[in-house]
Amino acid sequence: MILVSLLFFLGCTAAAQATDIDPVPRLTSRSGTYSGNGCPQGSVATSISTSNSTTGTYQLLISLDRAIPSIGPGSIPSDKSKLCSLKIDLGLPAGWRARLGDGGLDFRGWFYLPDNKTTGTMSAQYCFATNDNDVTKFTNSSPRNQSSFIFSIVGPLVGSFVNHTESSSGAHSGPCGNGTLNVVKRISATSRSASSGSDGYVGPDPDPSEQVWTFVSRMQVLKC
Ligand SMILES: *[C@@H]1O[C@H](CO)[C@@H](O)[C@H](O)[C@H]1NC(C)=O
Ligand SMILES: *[C@@H]1O[C@H](CO)[C@@H](O)[C@H](O)[C@H]1NC(C)=O
Ligand SMILES: *[C@@H]1O[C@H](CO)[C@@H](O)[C@H](O)[C@H]1NC(C)=O
Ligand SMILES: *[C@@H]1O[C@H](CO)[C@@H](O)[C@H](O)[C@H]1NC(C)=O
Ligand SMILES: *[C@@H]1O[C@H](CO)[C@@H](O)[C@H](O)[C@H]1NC(C)=O
Repeated sequence: MILVSLLFFLGCTAAAQATDIDPVPRLTSRSGTYSGNGCPQGSVATSISTSNSTTGTYQLLISLDRAIPSIGPGSIPSDKSKLCSLKIDLGLPAGWRARLGDGGLDFRGWFYLPDNKTTGTMSAQYCFATNDNDVTKFTNSSPRNQSSFIFSIVGPLVGSFVNHTESSSGAHSGPCGNGTLNVVKRISATSRSASSGSDGYVGPDPDPSEQVWTFVSRMQVLKC
């Protein structure tokens, strides 16, 4: 519900925004790349929408169409964890910077967790690179530079759900002017039972259009 109303709210503000006077420059996404077993080419959508152009608040939306971990008979071990690393180039004039991590992360997910021995986990890290060379160091970067979100749920759960989680490592600001935001998403399923899935839930075939993960995080544009 949280996510649905957020998206609806975005739709409304996008229509009104053209007539607003923008005291704060608009945050844009200039380009992006992604890779990982959770995001084959063509399976990712990202966008930045204005929440309030007066206060300079934005929402970054990332959706992954092919990031459902699978567990149990017929799945291979690497399918238990789906990873997607994204690099999003942000556009901002000199003298302004973006901040991310305040206000938490809203998400809609989809899990196949056939029994109460299976647990689904989502983790997400957002980190501003100070320059492009930092991208390669991202996974080893100091935690204080990262906003980290983690969420776990115990089965049985087969289907979609929405939830919200706060950053466990605060909010962080990027460099002044254009910058790069590195994002890592990992969605995994683990089981305490060797037979999970074999004697568990057997239901109707899920609708692939439902098997999407969508994340909404808040961003703010601040003066340097
Ligand atoms: C944007 O923020 C300003 C200042 O807090 C507020 O007065 C205004 O109503 C907000 N606009 C929207 C569309 O929420
Ligand atoms: C897990 O499910 C089994 C079988 O349905 C049940 O017997 C058991 O009490 C459940 N355990 C927990 C912790 O809910
Ligand atoms: C992390 O933060 C430190 C100090 O706050 C800064 O010197 C360093 O460049 C940052 N690293 C990245 C990858 O942004
Ligand atoms: C979010 O997840 C927590 C922990 O799994 C659960 O207790 C809570 O009810 C969930 N919230 C919603 C809105 O589903
Ligand atoms: C930021 O990116 C835009 C679009 O690529 C470019 O036109 C602009 O010159 C860049 N600004 C700086 C300060 O690098």
